Amino acid sequence: MTEYFSAAQDGSSSIDDDDEKLSIDDRIDSSIEATARIVDAGGDDDERRVEAALRPRRLSEFPGQTRVCDQLALVLEAAKRRGTPPDHVLLSGPPGLGKTTLALIVAAELEQPIRITSGPAIQHAGDLASILSSLAEGEVLFLDEIHRMARAAEEMLYLAMEDFRVDVIVGKGPGATAIALELPPFTVVGATTRSGLLPAPLRDRFGFTGHLDFYAVADLVRILRRSCGLLRVEATDAAITEIARRSRGTPRIANRLLRRVRDWAQVHGQGVADIAAAHAALALFDVDDRGLDRLDRAVLEALCRRFGGGPVGLSTLAVAVGEESETVETVAEPFLVREGFMIRTPRGRAAAPLAWQHLGLTPPPPELRTPQAWPLPLGDGDGRFGG
Ligand SMILES: Nc1ncnc2c1ncn2[C@@H]1O[C@H](COP(=O)(O)OP(=O)(O)O)[C@@H](O)[C@H]1O
Ligand SMILES: [Mg+2]
Repeated sequence: MTEYFSAAQDGSSSIDDDDEKLSIDDRIDSSIEATARIVDAGGDDDERRVEAALRPRRLSEFPGQTRVCDQLALVLEAAKRRGTPPDHVLLSGPPGLGKTTLALIVAAELEQPIRITSGPAIQHAGDLASILSSLAEGEVLFLDEIHRMARAAEEMLYLAMEDFRVDVIVGKGPGATAIALELPPFTVVGATTRSGLLPAPLRDRFGFTGHLDFYAVADLVRILRRSCGLLRVEATDAAITEIARRSRGTPRIANRLLRRVRDWAQVHGQGVADIAAAHAALALFDVDDRGLDRLDRAVLEALCRRFGGGPVGLSTLAVAVGEESETVETVAEPFLVREGFMIRTPRGRAAAPLAWQHLGLTPPPPELRTPQAWPLPLGDGDGRFGG
């Protein structure tokens, strides 16, 4: 994550004339490589450019997340009419749901420039002070992965967000003095995959918090149709629906799978992304019928086979699948929990009945089960076991 800025410098090629926007997107997308699974972990330049080209630029072009979008539209419109910057905006949710896209949209809707940086890039309060002191009135400051900012910078940030001033320390040792520097009003847009890690004083400085949730299939269908137009891909309705259904509710994954289905159609078919191409490409890239990918299944396999269904601590589980705890927690877990494959208990993560069923495994007999892992009796008609 620290190569955030240097990674941007080699993103020099562009696919449209909107050069500056594109280089911003390149920079942003280089910070999300960690979540680029399925195809390749690297998220090459080409993928970044395509992603940038697919980003909606306005709220009106942004499908899904209607509640957050409506609320945001109101906040932004009111601020524009008052002629003052809006409240600071915090966007939270799993990767690939549109946090960065919405941050860019906030600036576009306000017709203000946007300054982009990320928590990991701010390791000292001084880094933040120099950014803050150079902001123009009304400018939008986008802080990606805001939960990873250094503690001293966090404190400086919430003072700046509230009072629009920073205390700059001049000199060293006992003779050092703090000089208060007034800042013009500006808007912070913070994005985080882990809002729970934000200290309460910082979280409280955001007047508007939008939590992004996984997309419904119908919204992903709209997103994919739009992407087909932009990428000039011809796809059948059945193929689009199938991709949408198997994209873990995530636009980034949907767009990526669409490109792989297109590739398959070009190489093996007649160039039209149809249902046969969709099935073949999804199988090739290990996306199963419920949209789970290799990491998701590795987590479930470990839970069921190695830990007898759990509960097991997050870090133990992460070691078992050879991933960082944070990756398991922010990337795999939210979807697995939401779809009823996994349960979070006070003693750790546990496999839900659906996990055993999905893997084709037989759960251990009742006397060997840990109660937390089996909060509900099997097959009691709550729909979860029916899958
Ligand atoms: N609502 C949406 N409509 C269309 N495309 C979207 C939407 N949300 C996300 N995307 C696409 O998914 C990609 C990832 O979105 P991004 O904003 O970078 O996610 P995040 O910052 O939450 O990880 C973007 O490049 C964009 O193409
Ligand atoms: Mg992002």
